[in-house]
Amino acid sequence: MSESHDLRLVENDHRYLWHPFTQMRAWLNDRPIIIERGEGNYLIDVHGQRFLDGVSSLWCNVHGHRKPELDQALIDQAKRIAHSTMLGLSNVPAIELGRQLIAVVPTGLKRVFYSDSGAEAVEVALRMAVQYWQLNGAAERKLFLTLTESYHGDTVGAASLGYSEVFHRYARPVLFPVLKTDPPLVFRLYRGLTAQDALAAALEAARALIERHREEIAALVIEPIVQGAAGMWTHPPEYLRQIVRLAREAGALVIFDEVATGFGRTGKMFACEHAQVTPDLLCLGKGITGGYLPLAATLATERIFNAFLGEPAEFRAFYYGHTYTGNPLAAAVAAANLKLFGDEAIIERIAPRIALLSRALDEEVATAPHVADVRQCGLMVGVELMRDVARGERYDIYRQMGTKVARAARNAGVLIRPLGDVVVLMPPLSINEAEIRHLVSAAGEAIRQVVAHDD
Ligand SMILES: Cc1ncc(COP(=O)(O)O)c(C=O)c1O
Repeated sequence: MSESHDLRLVENDHRYLWHPFTQMRAWLNDRPIIIERGEGNYLIDVHGQRFLDGVSSLWCNVHGHRKPELDQALIDQAKRIAHSTMLGLSNVPAIELGRQLIAVVPTGLKRVFYSDSGAEAVEVALRMAVQYWQLNGAAERKLFLTLTESYHGDTVGAASLGYSEVFHRYARPVLFPVLKTDPPLVFRLYRGLTAQDALAAALEAARALIERHREEIAALVIEPIVQGAAGMWTHPPEYLRQIVRLAREAGALVIFDEVATGFGRTGKMFACEHAQVTPDLLCLGKGITGGYLPLAATLATERIFNAFLGEPAEFRAFYYGHTYTGNPLAAAVAAANLKLFGDEAIIERIAPRIALLSRALDEEVATAPHVADVRQCGLMVGVELMRDVARGERYDIYRQMGTKVARAARNAGVLIRPLGDVVVLMPPLSINEAEIRHLVSAAGEAIRQVVAHDD
């Protein structure tokens, strides 16, 4: 691409666009990387420079970019129809995808409701839960229980559930109150308990809270095993099993948000398989299309679905939907994505790469100064930096350590995006051994450089 064309793109980006989660003043003073193409696990910018896609284009890419089977599915579907509505009609790819999804999700989930983003999948689940209780004569069940620092998206409902002071403080006046309980990591990392004591303390906190609101909880909403946007906060499967048991004993529904953890990211198709628990509602997004197109789904058990059945005049129907719900292009690609999981035995073949990632992290990242905690579950990694590891003292937020590390990694040809002082690595499932080594050594080197400079 010519220098003048590139300049024009930068100028037009700066003139016309407003980027998400971005302080635009800083953005306007910087020269952005502008992506033009993708190839396998690499993003290629307008100058032809290649970057390893270290966070799967915001945690959604699965098989790499330009995966021939997904490209083909998209082209084939485009030749038939790009979009028709699901309101009063159905379409071929949406039906086929529904069948395939029910075959791969945990047993008991029987119905698929489509939407367009992870936040919407969560919004749908919470609306279903609230309506479910009203339809069942228990309108007082309208509280949701979530984990501290959980993240479920940015619409008003999803932001209420996953309130984050940094992300959502200005929306606070319009958000609804939610019950929050601290997961084991809070007790272990920030309060100095052993892993075992932290688990016990977290469960006791959840038990006491649930007990206090026994009759009012509509649902427990939880990101199973890994709380992604919290900074890859992990909890042991036992925590998930027990908090689900406590919620169910109190009569509440259970909603799993697997928008980030679904589709193999934790080493199993769905993270809840680590604990062998099935929710009443399951939220999926991101990797559902292999990272190609906006599509999300909320899956429900027959118990939930049946509660909505009745005569039209009873108004039990779930009046909710978006224009592009069940979009045929997205559904066709998602169906091809699921087929690839079978054809290429993705889950069966991923364990050695997860183990290699773990070894590389031990050797090159855990040993770096100021690394307080390295959390890994499958191909989800969070490396927490602290100013004083021994004392558990965090860096001042204005130092933007995570951002600086991500910047430094760019020089080694790796694109990553941090969460505060947590350096996040979340490569596509298709990452190969050499690329894993490259990713981890670039991250380790970037951390060393940045912390040395900032000491
Ligand atoms: C667990 C979880 N839920 C929901 C969302 C929101 O998804 P989306 O950005 O597609 O609305 C995210 C996004 O990161 C997520 O990690």
